Amino acid sequence: MVKAVVLGAAGGIGQPLSLLLKNSPLVSELSLYDVVNTPGVAADLSHIATPAKVTGYLPADDGLKKALTDADIVVIPAGIPRKPGMTRDDLFKINAGIVKGLIQGIAENCPRAFILIISNPVNSTVPIAAEVLRKNKCFDPTRLFGVTSLDVVRAQTFVSEIVGESDPRKFTVPVVGGHSGETIVPLLSQTQPPVTIPSDKIRGLIKRIQFGGDEVVEAKGGAGSATLSMAFAGFRFAESVIKITKGEKGIVEPTFIYLAGVEGGEDVRKVTGLDFFAVPVELGPNGAAKARNPLEKATAEEKELINVCKTGLSQNIAKGVEFVAASA
Ligand code: NAD
Ligand code: LMR
Repeated sequence: MVKAVVLGAAGGIGQPLSLLLKNSPLVSELSLYDVVNTPGVAADLSHIATPAKVTGYLPADDGLKKALTDADIVVIPAGIPRKPGMTRDDLFKINAGIVKGLIQGIAENCPRAFILIISNPVNSTVPIAAEVLRKNKCFDPTRLFGVTSLDVVRAQTFVSEIVGESDPRKFTVPVVGGHSGETIVPLLSQTQPPVTIPSDKIRGLIKRIQFGGDEVVEAKGGAGSATLSMAFAGFRFAESVIKITKGEKGIVEPTFIYLAGVEGGEDVRKVTGLDFFAVPVELGPNGAAKARNPLEKATAEEKELINVCKTGLSQNIAKGVEFVAASA
């Protein structure tokens, strides 16, 4: 029995993500929470002929508490998306408070649930979540994940396009660092199976992976950012987390984690000097079992990208930590 909860379930990501969770045979209960429209989304999904029982909640009548009680996994795509010309950091003002409030709800109602944060800026919202959980004395770094899967999905797709492979799923591309522009660092040299990318295409490929989000924001012309590809990527990550609760082994997912609390994380922290960083993580029954360290094997050019990443990422992390420290 797995109860999955989506916070921000009526939004552009929330709806298709909830659809994928409703369609999953691994989910027995699906609980949807948003500040608007969840009764309608829940009614709609509840007609789908799969076993998961769907319920929808609004803030009134203790809706957040009811949505979260007994949750095994909580996925959070709540918050505003970018418009053309905005950075993810521009979303901080509004989304920091939204994430802080929702994490407080998790601390009070389901502190042992796995928490998957999609809301941007991920580089800051995950540190916010960690600090709120810490304040509530229930922070377990093995259960808190920043979802960076979309960067990996894009890397798989764009690498496939360049090498002329029709099925992007054949490739594993480690993408490390954070989730915004130059904090996103694809380690193309460690792509499996190995690929040869023409040297005149490498810089363009790296830029496209780093700024893939902008491509979608521009194409949508003010109507939001990636939603469908994010639902795909978020579901893929959520499904992996649900699978480990069912005893499945050997699952590795790149994700933005608090390094000090996860085995192997110290090795990454020694290289980056940062408390939070996305690396491929081996999942186990309790969540993040071991952080892999692909940084030592990075090429000189990739190490240069990691250096650039560190500057921006350290500021984003500090901003999140300070936000919680400054609030009551
Ligand atoms: P959206 O505006 O379509 O949906 C967001 C939903 O959040 C809305 O339904 C809104 O009502 C809800 N919401 C707002 N405040 C809430 C609260 N306090 N509690 C519960 N729900 C609340 O936006 P979207 O396109 O779904 O994007 C959501 C977030 O995901 C944005 O911050 C976006 O930048 C981010 N995002 C992250 C990634 C990633 O790779 N991590 C990818 C795409 C988008
Ligand atoms: C993405 O990478 O698509 C998301 O972070 C949304 C955005 O703002 O680009």
